[in-house]
Amino acid sequence: MSMSKKVVVIGGTGLIGSKAVKRLQDGGHEAVIASSRNGVNAYTGEGLVEALTGADAVIDVSNMMSFDTAVITDFFATSSRNLTTAGRAAGVRHHVVLSIVNADGLAANPYMAGKLAQEEAVAASGQAYSIVRATQFHEFIETLIDAYSADGTVTVPDIDFQPIAAADVASALVEVALGAPKNGTIDLAGPERAAFQSFARTYLDARGDPRPTRAETGIDYFGAPVVTGSLVPGGAFTKGRVTLADWLRT
Ligand SMILES: NC(=O)c1ccc[n+]([C@@H]2O[C@H](COP(=O)([O-])OP(=O)(O)OC[C@H]3O[C@@H](n4cnc5c(N)ncnc54)[C@H](OP(=O)(O)O)[C@@H]3O)[C@@H](O)[C@H]2O)c1
Repeated sequence: MSMSKKVVVIGGTGLIGSKAVKRLQDGGHEAVIASSRNGVNAYTGEGLVEALTGADAVIDVSNMMSFDTAVITDFFATSSRNLTTAGRAAGVRHHVVLSIVNADGLAANPYMAGKLAQEEAVAASGQAYSIVRATQFHEFIETLIDAYSADGTVTVPDIDFQPIAAADVASALVEVALGAPKNGTIDLAGPERAAFQSFARTYLDARGDPRPTRAETGIDYFGAPVVTGSLVPGGAFTKGRVTLADWLRT
């Protein structure tokens, strides 16, 4: 009997999705690259039945950006309801969704509220599922530095940070998807935990950017108040392998 599985990657053309597709293919599995530009729209439902028929698992790494809580919450909740409903009808055995570590504690941030709504829709769906919550990607640090830059200085919250490479996230998602549903949540974080400021410094130094960095208490995370542990796992987690320094070298 073949151990090869068919896995639909919703958002299969994106940063994480394209890496997950490659991992699946390298492992001898069939990966369906689903995205709205490929005619599979998780939000409207277009093309879902066709894409999911015969699939063993779904990995949902779709994404959208909005600073409007109602818009982002509607996108993630509606998409997850559509995907799990179509998945159950098609006989899919496992729905895996990528969320963010501590999304529930950061819901004052509109995007995190959306991710929380996504998690809740999946958990309430009746479909067998795994929620994988990752920390911030190495690939996202530049966006964070831009957001915390003002007057030639990068001033970040005085909190811990534990970023992870997108490649490690994709590998973990594939491993989870090929395994049994957890019907619960798994945290995923990078190999190093340190002050947010030290990662910002490492990033800027590697880019030859001389801007000074500072850490301050009381600075929020896109609208969400944060404390030391807000962006890192509070308990057990799966550890990625690629450090920020390794990632910057490649
Ligand atoms: N950035 C971070 O540090 C971080 C940390 C933890 C978790 N995450 C999560 O990681 C996930 C993936 O992020 P990413 O950076 O890989 O995203 P990305 O590069 O922006 O890719 C998003 C993908 O979603 C697809 N998509 C958008 N709307 C869709 C729809 N209605 N139906 C089907 N596909 C749709 C896009 O393709 P089309 O445009 O063709 O539809 C694209 O393939 C997100 O859910 C995010 O919350 C991010």
